[in-house]
Amino acid sequence: EDPSSVPLRPPVVTIMGHVDHGKTTLLDFLRKSSIAAGEHGGITQHIGAFSVQMSSGKQITFLDTPGHAAFLSMRQRGANVTDIVILVVAADDSVKPQTIEAIKHARSAKVPMIVAINKIDKDQANVERVKSDLAANGVEIEDYGGDVQVVCVSGKTGQGMDDLEDNILLLSEMLDIRAEPDGMAEGWVLESSIKPIGRVATVLVKRGTLRPGDFIVAGRVFAKVRSLRNEAGVEVEEAPPGTAVEILGWKEPPEAGDMVLQAPTEDKAKSAVHYRIEQKEREEAMEQIT
Ligand code: GTP
Ligand code: NA
Ligand code: MG
Repeated sequence: EDPSSVPLRPPVVTIMGHVDHGKTTLLDFLRKSSIAAGEHGGITQHIGAFSVQMSSGKQITFLDTPGHAAFLSMRQRGANVTDIVILVVAADDSVKPQTIEAIKHARSAKVPMIVAINKIDKDQANVERVKSDLAANGVEIEDYGGDVQVVCVSGKTGQGMDDLEDNILLLSEMLDIRAEPDGMAEGWVLESSIKPIGRVATVLVKRGTLRPGDFIVAGRVFAKVRSLRNEAGVEVEEAPPGTAVEILGWKEPPEAGDMVLQAPTEDKAKSAVHYRIEQKEREEAMEQIT
């Protein structure tokens, strides 16, 4: 089959880095300087994942990851579901434990990286030190003859943010990321919670397209998709590959990290769930007797 007949999908870009180095601030900036895929306003529902249309018209899906040590598995997952990692390093603090951890995740997941040296507006900013610390930790940055792009930015003043956006779009074009929008959908649960509107889970769709009425299974949980919402809380009619949406309709909350699979019928989805529950019970029973 000709691979170019499979349509392009938006790249999934994960922002990683040490605690308080400015990941969320940079994301907020990118979100504001772009046309959100829907209307902002009302109560902001921060789901840590959102798809936006950039000024160029291209769509990008961003994932935010917390820098706190307790969120290791979430960062691991972030690195695994992503196409590009933006490594944020504060210019006044340089390379720190979670920076090094992010470098390792990106490397083991074989994901290309762009470095954003942030907080360059600060008096204590020392860009050269960050670059040499990165090189000392095996990041092959362009200044030192490598191919990892480095962009100096400030999430506070906005300096360098256009550059960062351009770099992301350029790299995604080079990666030529494609996915089949038809057929049974597949994705990952990024997070799940209970809200006044019901049990919700943020799902990143990797292939296929999810729509209201679809039957899905995540881990050992069944759902008939009741509705889909984007990060602005606006209901959308479909979630094509490379987009993240909040899904309503779960019997129970699924677990972050669970794989999401669409089933052609309700019966098939329910028997998949049943099979997984039985399998899990068998495993647990085996653990107790061995
Ligand atoms: P965690 O999610 O807790 O790991 O933090 P984070 O990496 O998302 O950092 P966050 O965006 O919360 O920013 C941490 C602090 O740094 C906040 O007080 C921001 O206002 C500040 N900050 C972020 N970017 C900049 C910047 O470019 N310049 C300056 N001066 N301050 C910044
Ligand atoms: Na913070
Ligand atoms: Mg943050």
